[in-house]
Amino acid sequence: MSDQKALYLTEKHGAFVLGTAPMYKPGPGEILIRIESTGLNPADWAIQTYGMLIEKYPAILGIDIAGTVEELGEGVTRYKKGDRILTKGTIGKYERTAFQQYALGYEDTSAKIPEGLSFDQAATIPLGLCTAAVALYHDGVNVIGGTCGLTPAWEDEGRGKYEGRPVVVLSGAGSVGQAAIQLLKLSGFNPLITTASLSNAEYLKQLGATHVLDRKLPSEELYKEIRKIASKPLTTVFDAAGFPETQNLGYDLLASGGTMAAVRPDAVNPDKKVDDKKSFFMYADVTLPQNRKLGASLFGKLTELLETGDLKPNHVEVAPGGLEGIIPALEKLKNGVSCVKLVAHPQEST
Ligand SMILES: NC(=O)c1ccc[n+]([C@@H]2O[C@H](COP(=O)([O-])OP(=O)(O)OC[C@H]3O[C@@H](n4cnc5c(N)ncnc54)[C@H](OP(=O)(O)O)[C@@H]3O)[C@@H](O)[C@H]2O)c1
Repeated sequence: MSDQKALYLTEKHGAFVLGTAPMYKPGPGEILIRIESTGLNPADWAIQTYGMLIEKYPAILGIDIAGTVEELGEGVTRYKKGDRILTKGTIGKYERTAFQQYALGYEDTSAKIPEGLSFDQAATIPLGLCTAAVALYHDGVNVIGGTCGLTPAWEDEGRGKYEGRPVVVLSGAGSVGQAAIQLLKLSGFNPLITTASLSNAEYLKQLGATHVLDRKLPSEELYKEIRKIASKPLTTVFDAAGFPETQNLGYDLLASGGTMAAVRPDAVNPDKKVDDKKSFFMYADVTLPQNRKLGASLFGKLTELLETGDLKPNHVEVAPGGLEGIIPALEKLKNGVSCVKLVAHPQEST
């Protein structure tokens, strides 16, 4: 097979330009994937805007991958050519990123897409799910950032384990927030309180939230409302927005001995910090050696979780125009979307 099309970020803070990339050869335990749909994430525009996370340019970005197996590396037994699969790409490893027509994936951190789920729906899942999963369930060994240290919800011992314990997900309508709500529901947490625009309340209740509060209320009001709903001590808070106001609210809500996971770097007021309340900045990448065991365990159960409806994909909005269509779509994402994932189709590039 000859070259393929890829969308390059030319330099730090540079422009996105369509070009060609070599076709990759899968090594042992790897697969070559023909990418049919890719989900867009805030990191994709943030890398361009802030020049963060990567140093090697020109760069190929994109994290969420759904497509078909094109070629199997040595020893791969889980798939055959043509299987529909989803996987999470690796930022900075350009043979494993999504804004191109073909990429490599690992056998153990990918999963078959069940019948009834489209490539677009599947492409909404990987990063959001992996972020929430690592932050909530990592066993702590060499973890980057931190972990809430819960027993994984997809394992028999973890399912329903935390029945009757309250939990809060701040900003539940984003991709990460939706994944956190669904996993925490499987873990048994109740009440499961989230904040969001109220237009998303019904949907978030379908995913498992028991209470949805207006995220635009002042923090003092949210604090009081959440305290009223959660009568028992709050030992787990998941902040899927990570802004200073959400992190400070989440930290105030935590009981002694509790842990807060946040999607952005620590913004808790240093004056509030006490030794018996932990907060950490999560780092999602299940393809990293430190997270691979958890990633493999999650992806090993993912097809079943999607088949049973225990995990549901995000709402989808397709950005037209193939790889080049990603450029205006990232602008749209940067300006803010509500409860929807933008996806693009690399094979439609002309
Ligand atoms: N650390 C990591 O490993 C990691 C991994 C993935 C993502 N992230 C970060 O996590 C954040 C969320 O990512 P995502 O993919 O879930 O984003 P997303 O799907 O684009 O999130 C959109 C949601 O954010 C909510 N929102 C917007 N402004 C808000 C505010 N001021 N306060 C609270 N919520 C607000 C909106 O809620 P409503 O619609 O309800 O208004 C919207 O539904 C991003 O900053 C991303 O960079 C970090």
